[in-house]
Amino acid sequence: MASSTNQAIWAQNAAMDMVSLRHDLHQHPELSFQEFRTQEVILQELRKIGLNGTKIANTGVVATILGNRPGKTVALRADMDALPMPDESQLPYASINDGICHACGHDAHIAILIGAAQTLMHDLDFAGQIRLVFQPAEEQLPGGAQNVLASGILDDVDAIFGLHVWQPLAFGQVATSKGALMAAPDDFSLLIKGRGGHASMPEMTIDPVVVAAHIVTALQTLVSRYVSANDQVVLSVTQMHTGTAMNVIPEWAQLQGTLRTLSPKIRDEFPKKMEQLATQIAQAFGAQAKFTVTRGYPALINNPSMAEFALATAADLFGEAQAILSPPTMGGEDFAYYLEKIPGAFVWLGMGTPYPHHHPKFDARDDILYPGIRLLTELALRFLE
Ligand code: NI
Repeated sequence: MASSTNQAIWAQNAAMDMVSLRHDLHQHPELSFQEFRTQEVILQELRKIGLNGTKIANTGVVATILGNRPGKTVALRADMDALPMPDESQLPYASINDGICHACGHDAHIAILIGAAQTLMHDLDFAGQIRLVFQPAEEQLPGGAQNVLASGILDDVDAIFGLHVWQPLAFGQVATSKGALMAAPDDFSLLIKGRGGHASMPEMTIDPVVVAAHIVTALQTLVSRYVSANDQVVLSVTQMHTGTAMNVIPEWAQLQGTLRTLSPKIRDEFPKKMEQLATQIAQAFGAQAKFTVTRGYPALINNPSMAEFALATAADLFGEAQAILSPPTMGGEDFAYYLEKIPGAFVWLGMGTPYPHHHPKFDARDDILYPGIRLLTELALRFLE
């Protein structure tokens, strides 16, 4: 196997080569399940370094780097899609696709994975194979990960790793958790049926606005009284739609929001509690409530020893202080589906950039490519050792 000095030089060269690719991807962002140009660009870039990519999951790409002798198989995954929002970065490579923006850094993920492939192709003196997975549609339910899994291209994989550039962390820090790292983001909707009427005669009505207000407050109490302090749950009521006039008590009120959980058990049980509470409060006022949940991705739960391995690798590459354990965040990520089937870990790579993810001025940084390439390369090679 090549020396670490060689690996570092190849990764540096790859990082420089990938800057213009990232800018090109940033300039041409595509929405979930529509990453057709992005797919072609990836196939082209892979050909340049001697790899034949195959289309998977409609707009995704898979390619395999074969070592010079048999061994294990490790997968590396990058997501590809952008968001339906304006790009207000005013960068020379700002989006030319109106209302679409790479505001999460998936452009950097693609560039990092291709850069890692370029680095790895310099020396095939390793056992086993490295499967490169460019996955479409992370940002939009149902997500592309399940399609990738259904394609069967991960059936023979022994481990999977993925990274996300992470704005709130200091530049170059690598963080992960030995368990839950990201939440299951489930949406809920609550339709409250009262009885409308004249606002001056509430006694003739069943006011769904008042019922909705009671339910909103009670739902928050459910979080604080039903869930242990050791478990994390976020419940946010984000929409309340009702009413048409100042002097009309409406017939209906609708509440919508998001429920974020880390524990699969609480994820299953909590909506039942919500439904019970909401329907019974409604009943107490003579109204009716219909509760529905739309499930998002499962919680992202790392394999503990793979997370440890990833952090140890990062510590060796970038120093102990740069590899840290992190508490989970309540955002969602469909890498979770891979981790339900395959041992692996998802890690954050700190950027310390000014604007948060999903902000119209968000951009990844060019100098994040090198540590990203170095980390993925090293994770793959060490796992196969
Ligand atoms: Ni993202």
